[in-house]
Amino acid sequence: MSADITEMILDDHDWFRRQFLRLADLRDHEDKVDEAAEVWEELAIYLEVHASAEEEHFYPSMATRADDSDASATEDAIGDHDDIRAGTEKARKAEVGSEDWWAAIDETDQANNHHMSEEESDDLGPFRRVTSLAFRQELGAKFEQFKVEHAHGKGLSFEQKDPDAYVEAVTS
Ligand SMILES: [Fe+2]
Repeated sequence: MSADITEMILDDHDWFRRQFLRLADLRDHEDKVDEAAEVWEELAIYLEVHASAEEEHFYPSMATRADDSDASATEDAIGDHDDIRAGTEKARKAEVGSEDWWAAIDETDQANNHHMSEEESDDLGPFRRVTSLAFRQELGAKFEQFKVEHAHGKGLSFEQKDPDAYVEAVTS
């Protein structure tokens, strides 16, 4: 039996928070830049895999089946994913360990925290009220499968998605 997609999303959120805490430990230690770079690299990739997996298997149902009749919560979430993508993109362009690099990580952390808290309160709860456990488990299996297929970001563009175009595509 597969897990409920809303719980899998929460598990990923917990992992994200822990990785940002690890980065806080490594910051301000010049001898730990390589370790920070490793933690960040894995985190930045997984933020994209997670967002893309949601866009593929959670938000299409959220936009059309849950209590999001005008798809505004979905549109907002995709915009948030783009803000997170903007942060990781800045970090990719900055020199590892530089002030700009850490600033881009902070920006990503803030965008991600904002997004996770909204997603947890505005999306996951309402979604559970209008869907069955069996349906959420079905989505959970697809969510997991997507993450396996795109492990380490394989086949993903890492590019921002237009929230309007996304909503249009999944609701039409
Ligand atoms: Fe999300």
